[in-house]
Amino acid sequence: MALKFASDQSREIAGQFDLRRLPPEFYDEPYPYYQALREHDPVKRMPDGSWLLTRYDDILPVYRDPKAFSSDKKKEFGPKFGPSPLLEHHTTSLIFNDPPLHTRVRRAIVGALTQRHIAAMEPGLVALVDRLLDAMAEKGEVDLIEDFAAAIPIGIIGNLLGIPQAERGPLRGWSLAILGALEPVLTPDRGSRGNTAVTDMLAYLKTLVDDRRIHLRDPDTDVLTRLILGEEDGERLTETQLLHQCIFLLNAGHETTTNLIGNTLHALSEKADQKAALIAQAGIVERMKTAVEEFLRFESPVQLGNRITTQDVEVGGVPLPPDSRITICIGAANRDPAQFPDPDRMYIAREPNRHVAFGFGIHTCAGLSLARLEARVAMSRFLTRFPRYALAGEPVRDGRARFRGFRNLPARVLP
Ligand code: HEM
Repeated sequence: MALKFASDQSREIAGQFDLRRLPPEFYDEPYPYYQALREHDPVKRMPDGSWLLTRYDDILPVYRDPKAFSSDKKKEFGPKFGPSPLLEHHTTSLIFNDPPLHTRVRRAIVGALTQRHIAAMEPGLVALVDRLLDAMAEKGEVDLIEDFAAAIPIGIIGNLLGIPQAERGPLRGWSLAILGALEPVLTPDRGSRGNTAVTDMLAYLKTLVDDRRIHLRDPDTDVLTRLILGEEDGERLTETQLLHQCIFLLNAGHETTTNLIGNTLHALSEKADQKAALIAQAGIVERMKTAVEEFLRFESPVQLGNRITTQDVEVGGVPLPPDSRITICIGAANRDPAQFPDPDRMYIAREPNRHVAFGFGIHTCAGLSLARLEARVAMSRFLTRFPRYALAGEPVRDGRARFRGFRNLPARVLP
């Protein structure tokens, strides 16, 4: 698809845009649609009464004011999911809650994800990536998602929660099913797969948590022990709250990072000049720091976020009453020309690069340093080992609007 619609078409596209009725082409290339919305209808009223924001400058104030723009999803998800495991999960996890529950859980999680803890994970991460590269070199023909992008975060987040290797098999399927239920449209199939996944995951995690209660680990490094013990002078999480935070962490930590690595491998396979610039001379690890920020901006793994207003507000000059449901379009904000010159160009040395791929404000991604490290290590070691890799077959998209990524990316890896 062209990167832009003609101007009269663009106005019409913006006028008719409905997140619940997306054309098939949108999933391949949503950016022309986002551009039309930014230009013609940046605070767009959807047919279901919700609002879609696509301009960077309209989105930041929403992130900055969590009192007026709540993350609590009970009102929205009650009717969407009905009484169900999915409802319990998505209304309990920290991301869809406001303070005080949010603050308490977040503190427990970020305490085990400081720079010091993350630096300590690097040697294990390097070893994991190198094992995957060896296995791919043997095969020659690979799936860059299954054989590489998805395997890295599963390994890392599995370690973070102390999930034994042999028990990690079902994690990816569960995660895809639970996050798939967050799509703008909940089909019966998505709903039933999501509910089964929550039920199965809860049953599994209960055994893990019961065992960890008996064999507590060092709360300085073990997230699960931290969540079990709670804060010294504060309340502990209930069993249900605890289990749902674990589900959320597992999901947040791998689907997104899988997509970041997969999207990057896909984009670089098409942009030979940027790949060449990355691998040209020594110093790839240093260059990768800036480049990863551009990969996050250019093909943001999380494209949509949500808030609900708690009072009368104004967004982009449009007055919104309390209980207005808002969709923040991260993917559109990260291509906004008012913030990023030449936004549809992927430029690995782009600076400044104040993208919102990790959100912003009190809910800013708690795993951002870990995600950045995973992407840096994965991409620099992959490109050093297989500088001439090439796609070999049709990439298969995930077909989702909220999370942007590939299900399969067939390729030949060449030294
Ligand atoms: C490229 C990878 C990742 C991306 C693009 C990403 C993106 C995001 C975004 C956009 C949010 C904010 C949602 C909102 O404001 O409504 C978020 C929150 C969160 N992410 Fe990530 N994430 C990534 C990786 C990770 C990893 C590896 C972890 C865990 C180790 C993680 C844990 C979390 C948690 C716990 C929150 C909730 C924070 C809160 O509500 O305070 N994420 N992430």
